[in-house]
Parts: sequence; structure tokens; C-alpha cells
Amino acid sequence: MKRKGLEPIQNEVDRLRETATEAVRIASERFFAEYDKDPDPLRLAAWFVPRCWREIEYVFMLNEEIRRYGLSFERKHITALSKHSFQEAQHYEMVGRIIEHLGGEVPVTVPESARAWSDLLWDCLDRHRLAAIAAWNISETAAGGSFDATLAASERYQDQMPEAFRVYKQIVKDENFHVGLGQLLLDRYAENDKDREEILRAMREMVELVAYTYKPENVVVTGR
Ligand SMILES: [Fe+2]
Ligand SMILES: [Fe+2]
Repeated sequence: MKRKGLEPIQNEVDRLRETATEAVRIASERFFAEYDKDPDPLRLAAWFVPRCWREIEYVFMLNEEIRRYGLSFERKHITALSKHSFQEAQHYEMVGRIIEHLGGEVPVTVPESARAWSDLLWDCLDRHRLAAIAAWNISETAAGGSFDATLAASERYQDQMPEAFRVYKQIVKDENFHVGLGQLLLDRYAENDKDREEILRAMREMVELVAYTYKPENVVVTGR
């Protein structure tokens, strides 16, 4: 029998991915347009804080995905998820350095600005073996919408964040792998309508959240 994978819902998945990416792209452009008027490095640090936190929480969640469900996947997919996890740890380290350079504090606990995101993903981990993968696939796809604005700003503000251009070039490359891996796993392991329903539910919830939380007005500056 032919395996259906994501095929019956691929159009909907693509639409959700585009909606999330577009929302993040617009929000990032707006943030940097406002930043240009008043380039306060602490505000920039605050913008990176939830992004930095997401890097390390991906490590926790990927490892938990592997611990709970990894043995129901092919061994090569455990390896791929572990590589994904390792790269997120590197991102946490690199984005952390950008924040420190800006005079901010690297998050070591979930910041308010990332709490809803965190809660949703842990809930997805409990729900279904593919739900968290689906939710973070939307989140990671959407984050791609911020890269152009971030790279452009890292050239404009080289004095404030000298490492950011190189760091984000690396992140862009790694994220291509993460987004592709998520799509591959969802397609490989979605076996029935229930699986596809759980994938869409998780993705829709993440789109809602991403379209709401990545707003410049939600950047919380602390440490003054
Ligand atoms: Fe990352
Ligand atoms: Fe990633």
C-alpha cells in the first residue's frame, strides 16, 4: 500500500508555513526600522533574548523527543535529531555571546517573552510523537523570516554586534537542515489521518502564537 505521509495535507502545511514566515518577516523589519531611530544596544540585546532561549530549549526538547519517541524512529533519524540538538546548543552559545557583547544577560530560564512558545511545545511533546516536531517546524520555518533583516542589521551595527553577521550566516545554514529534517520526519512517519490531524493542530497553534508574539512591542528590555 502506498504510504500517504504529509501528501493529503501538504497544501495546508505549506500555507501555514508561509503565513508564519510572513508574520515574522514583517515583525522583524518593523523592529529594525524602529531600532534605526534609537539604536540602544540593550533593546537589541532584549530582542535576541527570546531567540537565544529558544536555542537552548530546542536542545532540551529535541533530547526529550529522542528519549520518549526516538526508538520508534529509524536509527539514522535519531542521529539526525541529535545533530539538530547539537547545532541548537552551538546557536545558544553564539547568540549568547552576541547578547553579552550588547551588554545584556543570557537567559538561563524561560523569559516571559518565550513562555507561551515553551508551554505550547512541551504540551505538544505530551500529545503525540510528531506534534512537537510539527510545532517547531513552523517555528523554525518562521524564524527564517527574520534572517534577512537580522543579517542586514548586523552589517549596519557591526560596532554593536561584530560577530552577528558570521553567526547568523551559520544559523541560516543550520536552519535549512533543521527545517528540511522536520519536513522529512513528518512526511516519513505520518501514517494515518489521526497523525495528520495532530500535525495540523500543532502547526495551527504555533502559527497563532508566532503571528502574535514576534511583535516589536513585545521586546522586553531588562537590566536597567
Ligand atoms: Fe537554532
Ligand atoms: Fe533550528
